[in-house]
Amino acid sequence: MQKNVLGSLAFIFLSLVSLSAQEIEKIPLPEPQRTGGMPLLEALNNRQSQRNYSSQALDEQVISSLLWAAYGINREDGRRTAPSAVNWQPFDLYLIMADGWYVYEPREHALLKMGNQDLRKHAGSQDFVSAAPLNLIFVSDYDRMTGADPEILEYNSGRDVGFISQNVYLFCASEGLATVVRGLIDKDALREVLRLRPSQHAVLGQTVGYPGQ
Ligand SMILES: Cc1cc2nc3c(=O)[nH]c(=O)nc-3n(C[C@H](O)[C@H](O)[C@H](O)COP(=O)(O)O)c2cc1C
Repeated sequence: MQKNVLGSLAFIFLSLVSLSAQEIEKIPLPEPQRTGGMPLLEALNNRQSQRNYSSQALDEQVISSLLWAAYGINREDGRRTAPSAVNWQPFDLYLIMADGWYVYEPREHALLKMGNQDLRKHAGSQDFVSAAPLNLIFVSDYDRMTGADPEILEYNSGRDVGFISQNVYLFCASEGLATVVRGLIDKDALREVLRLRPSQHAVLGQTVGYPGQ
């Protein structure tokens, strides 16, 4: 009897696992550009927030290099382009685009397509947000900060995210893209539509696209 119950539970579990595996599509990204670009001091000179976007889509190569610059792995031991306290690396980068929403998987440098829904209206309340082709949502997973005092979880997420955002700013400056980091996000709505686990917290959004007219 007990065996049957365990067997049924195992079947349900395996069915759920295969269901979610079917739903999540892995999309390998082209090799990111790791050299060249604008000289750093010029990029710093050009860094700025912009709030006027063209709806022109970003191609795969630009998205690949942007994600790698933001929070990609740049060393064999798995460390990243952004520093991270205790090397906890608590962030996941969620991408909200017209054709669906994705999570960046840095180890394979791939996108995980999580759904086909256009979630842009949930990416932020400012008008330009829905017009832009890409909104990044920086999501911190508190469970990854193992051994941390609960009081520092939010504070530490706030520290780490700044480096990632600045990487995006500098990449955009180098590539002639427009960007703005945004604290104006509806964290509860994002929790629901991005199906975040209780340990995951949306910290900031960042809009990216070509400059509008
Ligand atoms: C933590 C943080 C949150 C921000 N939130 C928003 C926001 O919600 N919406 C927005 O339009 N700009 C936002 N900004 C951008 C600032 O308004 C901008 O950086 C500031 O005006 C200075 O302009 P600059 O980035 O061009 O130097 C934010 C910046 C930071 C650092």
